[in-house]
Amino acid sequence: MQRIDQIAALRAALAPMRRAGETIGLVPTMGYLHDGHLALVERACAECDRVVVTIFVNPTQFAPGEDLDAYPRDLAGDLERLSAYPVDFVFAPTVSEMYPEPMQAFVAAEPLGDILIGEQRPGHFRGVATVVTKLFNIVQPDRAYFGEKDFQQLAVIRRMVADLAMAVEIVAVPTVREADGLALSSRNVRLSPEDRAAAAVLARALDEGAAMIGAGEGDPDRVLAAMRATIEAEPRANLRSLDLRDPATLAPVTRIGARPVVMLVTANFGDVLLIDQRVVEGNDKGVTP
Ligand code: PAJ
Repeated sequence: MQRIDQIAALRAALAPMRRAGETIGLVPTMGYLHDGHLALVERACAECDRVVVTIFVNPTQFAPGEDLDAYPRDLAGDLERLSAYPVDFVFAPTVSEMYPEPMQAFVAAEPLGDILIGEQRPGHFRGVATVVTKLFNIVQPDRAYFGEKDFQQLAVIRRMVADLAMAVEIVAVPTVREADGLALSSRNVRLSPEDRAAAAVLARALDEGAAMIGAGEGDPDRVLAAMRATIEAEPRANLRSLDLRDPATLAPVTRIGARPVVMLVTANFGDVLLIDQRVVEGNDKGVTP
């Protein structure tokens, strides 16, 4: 495993591999790696001849006043964790390597990136789409791996790749969770012990919604009301958003039918914003075809 900080050096190292016909997998991250990130790494290593993991806390996806400075970092620990996998390159550039000058060209998938979390975090998905495009251009991967946990991010990237005919296959990896259901996140370390225990309510609410849909409930409002009641019963949870949407377009669903839906939740515990999601197969009970 080789650590590379320069764009030119990474390109030079990858070029002969690409010429030799080897497949290249990319796992973009902001570091402080946990088992959720490592599930992406493991999958990439299983499916690709060469794997590049990028570690870059991307300032352009944080709005002023957001937690950029508080974002946890531990490059030595990350390298140690990655050394357990057959990763070829860890690309960990500085901000000035990635952004030597103020950017003038951007990529955005809108309105997909303006709704839901994009409403709470204006400019966030433009920052994500732009840095991911830049990483695609640097690495030119055959496949890139993203977690379902950040479901809107995945939807934005899929749409960007389709609309702009980018030659990369997007692979979605299911959310890795703690024993009590809390989705692993680099932000979890900032939760107080009380908030950490309380945060499991999000996964419980998602389970409850999935169970209702599985039992035949077709009315999204009834599913959302039950989930909201569960989350609001936890006094430490400050519910920010709760939505039931079409997984591809993220458009609201008026009736749960034969098609899958995604439940999306964001909530604050103290000043830590947590997000979670769950995709459920539809049901066809009580639904007019
Ligand atoms: P980061 O939050 O570090 O996440 C990197 C990748 O790990 C994302 O694709 C995310 O969905 C995935 N991931 C995080 N927690 C996960 C979990 N519990 N289970 C499965 N996958 C999980 O997302 C970003 O960084 C950035 O926006 C990035 C795409 C790197 C662009 O800067």
